Amino acid sequence: MRSIIMRLFAAASGLALLISYSGAAQSQDSPADRVLNASPYAIAADEELSGFVRVTAEAAIGEHCASCHSADLTGKPGVPNLVDYDWLWGITGEEFNDVNPVMAIQQTLLYGVRNRDCPEDQMSYGACSDTRYSEMPGYGVLGFSEEQLNDLTEWVVDMSGGEADAAAVERAQATVTICAECHGGDSYGYVPYGGPSLRDDIWLYGGDRDTIYDVIANGRLGECPPWGNTLDAATIKALAVYIWNTSLGL
Ligand code: HEC
Ligand code: HEC
Repeated sequence: MRSIIMRLFAAASGLALLISYSGAAQSQDSPADRVLNASPYAIAADEELSGFVRVTAEAAIGEHCASCHSADLTGKPGVPNLVDYDWLWGITGEEFNDVNPVMAIQQTLLYGVRNRDCPEDQMSYGACSDTRYSEMPGYGVLGFSEEQLNDLTEWVVDMSGGEADAAAVERAQATVTICAECHGGDSYGYVPYGGPSLRDDIWLYGGDRDTIYDVIANGRLGECPPWGNTLDAATIKALAVYIWNTSLGL
């Protein structure tokens, strides 16, 4: 009798040991696993996780992003600066906390901007259904006259705070309502369509008249590759957190 009780006891404590071991095993998950579901705040509060984010992101940037965005992510003509807190896609600056912007960056990284590389049945508007998409139309191509294009150029110069030809800006008023769809009602940008603000001196393509005219006349369709098939989820998350933190000056 006594030995049966002992055996039962031994079995029960064995089970308890097993349970506590599996619990311990969970808290020993790798930083890559833990970073996936951790919020930006939980990552910032954990030295191991923030170290993982920094090392992983810096390696991925060197290998995959620097060729276009430059090593310090400040960009070049046609490729945005990622660390100036001026966002084309998904971030308005009015977010409640750091979770939404990090997820918006993750979305851009997973599916890219204007990606066209997917099966026919997953395309819409000439691009993959999941990718960030919109078009800067080429108004010269659409039949606008040189004078109209010049007037629009002067209007953009004026909007961005430069010295512009007042008569041309006045003439442009009749046309510029069409720009609001993607650049916002007050031209401060519209992030669902990736329309840059025209109200500042931050330029994706360049603030000189020749470049502005060329963009308006011929349009633009900048592309960022999708990374969802190339980089693992922890690297994507690390990049998003790193880019957001760096843009905040952290
Ligand atoms: C082949 C060039 C190229 C490479 C490589 C590239 N990008 Fe991009 N990226 C772009 C361009 C061009 C845009 C702007 C797209 C547009 O016009 O909206 C962009 C946009 C972005 C944006 C959106 C910025 C915003 O203001 O919303 C993010 C975030 C981004 N890239 C991150 C990355 C990261 C991270 C990598 C590396 C893993 C990377 N990109 C690699 C060209 C590139
Ligand atoms: C259907 C959407 C859409 C409309 C309408 C539109 N734009 Fe754009 N515009 C964009 C997008 C998107 C970009 C960024 C292109 C890219 O990322 O490659 C852009 C870029 C620009 C740029 C370059 C800004 C920079 O920082 O280099 C200028 C200038 C511009 N647009 C002017 C205009 C003007 C003027 C009008 C109206 C006559 C207009 N746009 C109408 C979507 C639009």
